[in-house]
Amino acid sequence: MNRIKSYLTIISTLLCLGINSAKAQDCTLEIRVGDNLTFTPPQLSISKSECPTVTLNLTHLGNLPRNAMGHNWALTLAENAQSVAQAGWQSGLENQYMPLDDERIIATTDIIGGGESASVVFASSLLDAKEDYTFFCSFVGHFSLMKGVFTVNE
Ligand code: CO
Repeated sequence: MNRIKSYLTIISTLLCLGINSAKAQDCTLEIRVGDNLTFTPPQLSISKSECPTVTLNLTHLGNLPRNAMGHNWALTLAENAQSVAQAGWQSGLENQYMPLDDERIIATTDIIGGGESASVVFASSLLDAKEDYTFFCSFVGHFSLMKGVFTVNE
């Protein structure tokens, strides 16, 4: 009887761990890119109340190097996305095609090439559910195709 009880305790502990890790995973967003100008998935969303901290993992599944088909993932208010991307082009690959110390940038990864990955962690307190946000790649010439809607829920 005691043995059954301890098995049950182990099983319920494992179930709790499973639920907790499933919840934590909701705060980690995965996005993939390749040797083309596409983000997969094309849209992302987070819940502020469930996710005080958001982790974005960018994975480049292509083969081309970062100077030829580099990608990053950057997040700004929708109204700032194009002007930040243009400022990024002028900043050059050595600066990850992003302007330095620009307060309009909420989060950004480095530029990566095929086979590489990058992550960025940011606080959801930076986001407002009433605002519109855009994520995009700031590599030269990619902005017109490589962007998507980032939805913030309360
Ligand atoms: Co790109």
